[in-house]
Formats: sequence, C-alpha cells, structure tokens
Amino acid sequence: MEKLIIEGGCPLEGEVRITGAKNAVLGLIPAAILCGCVNTIDNVPNIKDVHKIVGILEKLGASILQKDDVLTIDTRNSISYDCSPYQDETGKMRASYYLLGALLGRYHKAIVPLPGGCNIGDRPIDQHIKGFKALGAKVVIEHGQVKMEAEHLVGANIYLDVVSVGATINIMLAAVLAEGTTVIENVAKEPHIVDVANFLNLMGANVKGAGTDTIRIRGVDHLHGCSYSVVPDQITTGTYMMAAAATGGNVLLHNVIPRHMEALSAKLREMGATVVEEAGGLRVIGNGHLKGVAVKTLPYPGFPTDLQQPMAVLMTIAEGNSVIIESIFENRFKYAEELRKMGANIVVNGRIANITGVPGLSATHIAATDLRAGAAMVIAGLVADGETTISNVHYIDRGYENLEENIRSLGGKIRRIQTAD
Ligand code: UD1
Repeated sequence: MEKLIIEGGCPLEGEVRITGAKNAVLGLIPAAILCGCVNTIDNVPNIKDVHKIVGILEKLGASILQKDDVLTIDTRNSISYDCSPYQDETGKMRASYYLLGALLGRYHKAIVPLPGGCNIGDRPIDQHIKGFKALGAKVVIEHGQVKMEAEHLVGANIYLDVVSVGATINIMLAAVLAEGTTVIENVAKEPHIVDVANFLNLMGANVKGAGTDTIRIRGVDHLHGCSYSVVPDQITTGTYMMAAAATGGNVLLHNVIPRHMEALSAKLREMGATVVEEAGGLRVIGNGHLKGVAVKTLPYPGFPTDLQQPMAVLMTIAEGNSVIIESIFENRFKYAEELRKMGANIVVNGRIANITGVPGLSATHIAATDLRAGAAMVIAGLVADGETTISNVHYIDRGYENLEENIRSLGGKIRRIQTAD
C-alpha cells in the first residue's frame, strides 16, 4: 500500500501547468470507437483512469499508441460490442458507461457492465437508458450488465429529468450516427460536454448547442479521423487554486481557461484571496486569512460538486461560519470525519455541512475516501501543523498527474512511501 506524507505549513509558490481534463478525455476515448478510423488526441493526462479506459478499448480490439501526452487510437478493426468479460476493469470507473453510447452508435449493439466510480451517492443511469430507448434501442439489465440492441437508431426528442453530465454525453455518442435529428433538452453544460461535442464535430458529426440547455444532433452516415487537443482540467485547476489560497501562497496556473473557473474564483475572492487573470494564466494569492462563505454545488456554470470537498478544507480554517449545500450527490461528505480528526469543526446534516472555522488543523493519519476527497486531504495536510499521513492514495492517482512533483516544485513538502499494511 502507498501513503502520502505531508509536512504542512509551507505556502505554495511558483507555477504549475494544468493537464487535460480527465472527464473530457474519458468521453473522447470511447467516442473514437464511433469513427472506425485513426484519431490523435493530445494533452491527455497521465492518470490511472485514462490507463484503465485505454486498457479496456485495447481488449475490445482497438489499437492504441501512447507517446507522452498523445494518444493515437485506431478503431479500424472490428471492436467487440461485448464488454462483459472486462467487468473487473469497467466496474472500477464511472466513465466506462460511455462505452454504451459509443458501441450502440457504431454497432447498434452493446453489452456493458454497470459502471463503478466514486461512492458518493446512488448514481443511477436511468436517464442514459431513457435516451437510448428513445433512439430505438431495446435495453435490459441482467446480471449486472446493460444489454442493448437496436435495428435502427432514429433521432428523437429527449428531455432529461435531471441535468446529467454522463447522460448528456452518452446520448450524444449514440445519436451522431442515427437517422434524422435528435434534440436533447435540459442537458448538462460542463466544459467537457462542449469538448466531446467539438471532437465529434471534428470527426464529421453535426452537433449544435453544446454548452447551452439544448443540444441538436443531425445524424450523419459516417465519421472520419481527426486530431484533437483535450480542454484543460477545470477540477485540477480548482484544486491547485484552493491549495494556493489555503496555504497563503502565490501560484500562477498555466494552460487554464479562466472562464471555466468563475464560480470558484468568485468564492475565493469572497474568502479574501486574490485571483487575477494574467497573460500566462490565472494567478491565485492567499493572504493568510480566509473568511467563511456559503457554497451550493450546482451543474455548470454553478459551483462544481467535484470542488466541494477541497473547498471544505479552506472553510475549516476560515474565520467564522461556512455552509456547504451539496445538491448533486447525496453522500459526498464522508471526508468530514477525516477532517474532524485534524480538529475541524464540521456538522453534517443530510446534504448540508455547517463548518465553524478553527485557528488551524493538526496533522494526523487520515484517509482519502474517494478521488476528490483525496485532493481535499492533500490540501488539509499542506495547511496542517506537523506531519500528515494519507492512505488510500490510489483514489488520488485516478485523477491527478504528477501531484507530488507539482507540489514539491511549489515548495510543499510531500513524499510517497510504501507500507506493508
Ligand atoms: C460526472 C463526473 C463526476 C462529477 C459529476 C457531476 C465523469 C466521469 N464523472 O459524473 O466527476 O462529479 O458528473 O458534475 O464525468 N442522475 C440520475 N440519473 C441518471 C444520471 C444521473 O438520477 O441517469 C443523477 C445523479 O445521481 C446525480 C446527478 O444526476 O445526482 C448528476 O449526475 P451526473 O451529472 O450524471 O454525474 P456523473 O455523470 O455520474
């Protein structure tokens, strides 16, 4: 088992280059199945979830070459529509659900185990399935597998009952090669939705409206290969922004899109930090004294649920009272218990966490309870007094490339150790 050891108390100072977005590339890689050609994707983050989805596609028959941050994905060979032999792999990640839309779109058939991912709530996929059925697929769930088949896929009008990132992308994937026009309403507007739509359009699809509430897809007969560069990661950017603010540091983030960060930037400014756009990127300066705020997680452009956990760490040391209302996932406060071990004052009641700031956190042994909670624990370790040990590092490795190297280059004291337990 691996653990992270952090010696807290060093303000982070310097520059970091942000990698491509995990949640975008995890949609782009399955999307490449649709074209049956060769695609090149660059700015791909070197993270465990990418390795996993690449491994699954290779097992299905794709030929994939990885060099530095560039993936060349060749899906000219026939790709198996049956992922059931790879349940172990698909069950370890959320984004394996995109194989449903991609395989259905190309082969009109798909067998994909139900997805895994962070345990932060119920996470049904009923809206994905509603979309596939509307396009003409027969869908059954048996023995933990989603099995779909369609004679023809025909465009339809689909209204999502909940704003879902996964359902929006999955239905887009299934619809780009369908006959006629599909209109999806009440869709998610996250930057990675736009990124997947841009990639599909570059392959010859006709997707309009990504980034608004309604997406219109006119089906095309075939797609072709393209070269594409992944959008910068909004959540990784936010994680470093908060680490800078929490430690009273001064960090310039390169390869970011400041517009994607507006909800967080506004909150950090309200807390007393400085966030300024510069020619080279986005600079965050912590003034060493944060003020309590209220945050409600919402679909984009609202405050991202994936940044709620790191934000809670800032609130634990901010002056006065703070509140988090988690409106997306019903079970995303498991990390609170870990922060309490460090002296944080957090009271969780259902989807609401009330946090009263304390003068500082004290180092101890804590665990990452999921990916973004892991990022939160790292920030907690960076601000705590003394040496923090973080277990369950494998969660963090799913989504952050070179986290320790980056933190060390900013002056933070962090190292990884192997332990027997
Ligand atoms: C994706 C992200 C995850 C992020 C989340 C919200 C990936 C791989 N994961 O997860 O990091 O935290 O968006 O930004 O991109 N829902 C339903 N039925 C459905 C689908 C969703 O009820 O069919 C509900 C969910 O339980 C949740 C809400 O809708 O309450 C939003 O979920 P969704 O946007 O689909 O999240 P994921 O795609 O699972």
